[in-house]
Amino acid sequence: MASRKLLLLPGDGIGPETMAEVEKLIALMNASGAGFETQTGAVGGAAIDEGDVPVSEATMQAALGADAVLFGAVGGPKWDGVPYETRPEAGLLRLRKDLELFANLRPAICYPALADASSLKREIVEGLDILIMRELTGGVYFGEPKEIVDLGNGQKRGIDTQLYDTHEIERIARAAFEAARTRRGKVTSMEKRNVMKTGVLWNEVVTAVHKAEYSDVTLEHMLADAGGMKLVQNPKQFDVIVTDNLFGDMLSDVAAQLTGSLGMLPSASLGAPDERTGRRRAMYEPVHGSAPDIAGQGIANPLAMIASFAMMLRYSFAMTDEADALEGAIAEVLEAGVRTGDIMAPGCRQVGTAEMGDAVAEAFGRRLAA
Ligand code: IPM
Ligand code: MG
Repeated sequence: MASRKLLLLPGDGIGPETMAEVEKLIALMNASGAGFETQTGAVGGAAIDEGDVPVSEATMQAALGADAVLFGAVGGPKWDGVPYETRPEAGLLRLRKDLELFANLRPAICYPALADASSLKREIVEGLDILIMRELTGGVYFGEPKEIVDLGNGQKRGIDTQLYDTHEIERIARAAFEAARTRRGKVTSMEKRNVMKTGVLWNEVVTAVHKAEYSDVTLEHMLADAGGMKLVQNPKQFDVIVTDNLFGDMLSDVAAQLTGSLGMLPSASLGAPDERTGRRRAMYEPVHGSAPDIAGQGIANPLAMIASFAMMLRYSFAMTDEADALEGAIAEVLEAGVRTGDIMAPGCRQVGTAEMGDAVAEAFGRRLAA
């Protein structure tokens, strides 16, 4: 069996403790010959503490050489004073940019057992299964100029630049249409063409790609603000939402809350398939962030991290049965009423991070053996 090279980047806050639960799953799979070779690196604040930069060159090389990267979370109050250029988040952004991970898949699935954990009514979210396809290497996150200039009259000016080129919109649109073909066949494109030139171009390009290559998929356009409103009013009308980097950041946090907790949302960030091998660079990360307020207490929800690992099995290694077994194990454990604090409900049993990880590992092992 060929080896599968993983780079684990636990990062800061609850990153390490949730990553530890995935390491249990990797050990379990390796015991039956999965052949994962793991290497661990520092990123974010952890890397700043080691070497004054949020991601080292050695870690970047390891990321470029790995079959897949599993990422925890970065940031926290400890590094608030660090210069903007080397803040913890800059490590994450460099990984996304240098690995060219332009397609960020953020599935928001509301497990039936969690429908009551959402702040919305059960009937609005129960059975929800949508996919946010966020553009991840362009837009205002990376556009230049990006600076604060002194105007010399006691005033300063902050500048961020939103820009998109045709090819960047084309490739994320294709990713969205391809995903829709494997789902319910509908794409909703969200931008602000009523205010932004990038929105006008986005709309044009998505429409053209649809017409030329994907007319079997249903395409609708929605202004991003209205889309945010529709997400909380009637989220089940969506299948795939394709949107830019900044709107995708915001809309995916909204979508996360529909599922019951930010602690439930995994993500996959994918590059273009290699022309020769067909392989794609990939990084998997929970959407939740470092949650410094609860870090180190052993109470964080590891399910988004575990579900991110399931996405890795599916997208990087085509281990469909294993991915299904792991996602099934998560659903089973939730059905059984095992809950971390963020998704706790009356009549359920509240557990910590490790106990939740053990429960999933047990169910996963049983499903793999079946
Ligand atoms: C996310 C996060 C990041 C982002 C931060 C940590 C830089 O919020 O992945 O959604 O803004 O992209
Ligand atoms: Mg975010």
